[in-house]
Amino acid sequence: MRIERLGETFVARVHDLDLSQPLDNETYAALDKAWFENRVLAFSDQTLTEPQLMAISSHFGPLEKHVLENFHHNAYPEILMISTVVEDDKPIGLADAGSYWHSDVSYKAEPSRASTLYGVEVPEAGGDTLFCDTAAAYDALSDEMKTRLEGLKAAHNYDQRELQASTKGIRGELTTAQKDQTPEVLHPVVRTQPETGRRSIFVNPGFTVRIDGLAEDASTALLGELFAHCLEDRFCYRYQWQKGDLLAWDNAVTMHRATVLDLAPGTRRTMWRTIISGDAPI
Ligand code: SIN
Repeated sequence: MRIERLGETFVARVHDLDLSQPLDNETYAALDKAWFENRVLAFSDQTLTEPQLMAISSHFGPLEKHVLENFHHNAYPEILMISTVVEDDKPIGLADAGSYWHSDVSYKAEPSRASTLYGVEVPEAGGDTLFCDTAAAYDALSDEMKTRLEGLKAAHNYDQRELQASTKGIRGELTTAQKDQTPEVLHPVVRTQPETGRRSIFVNPGFTVRIDGLAEDASTALLGELFAHCLEDRFCYRYQWQKGDLLAWDNAVTMHRATVLDLAPGTRRTMWRTIISGDAPI
């Protein structure tokens, strides 16, 4: 197994590893080290069945089902279908799982620890996934800003209007039951990755609606400043997919964004996605 760093500060490709085969403890330990060091890992040329994807995902922790049960895989509900493909007039998956910067499931009290995304069918060009290294972005803040953020909390919400508009209604309105599962939650604006102790900026344009305790203008201005800082090119990486790629990322120290809305109509792209449960951020 060989690890190749792809981005300036994060993202690495793992070479010479077949994830359809059982891995020994030594390999898992090397993978964990690479994951903590790089925050996003890419495994190429994989041929995985659904149970194999779930098995490798489970290494990162227990799997949880996405709140949008209408897009669960028919036979394996722990897999969320993300797809632009329509069969018999019915989308086979969620066409756009996030063309806005976000950290997965930050809208819950216990956001996802990790996520995986497997390229089942990918276009020849486009459909890239963008990543942001929110730990490197935190490190680069001024001491004054770090002090200002200390102790602040932000509200996260899965049902904000702007998000509905930016996804062109693809996700659809949440049902009452889905809204009940996703009440607004507060998280620290700066969180600590539990295993590495790395601190990161934990607000995202997709789900963070305000800084708690600040007047609306001040909250909007501070969030705008933090988003602009995080999304500077030096903290971002564009991942270009090949069929059979599997990505696994740490949601405590990254944000990501899909670009599927830029694809020409009719372009086929299907991904399998798993969500690994996490703990309340500290
Ligand atoms: C996501 O936001 O998790 C999906 C990313 C993608 O489809 O590129």
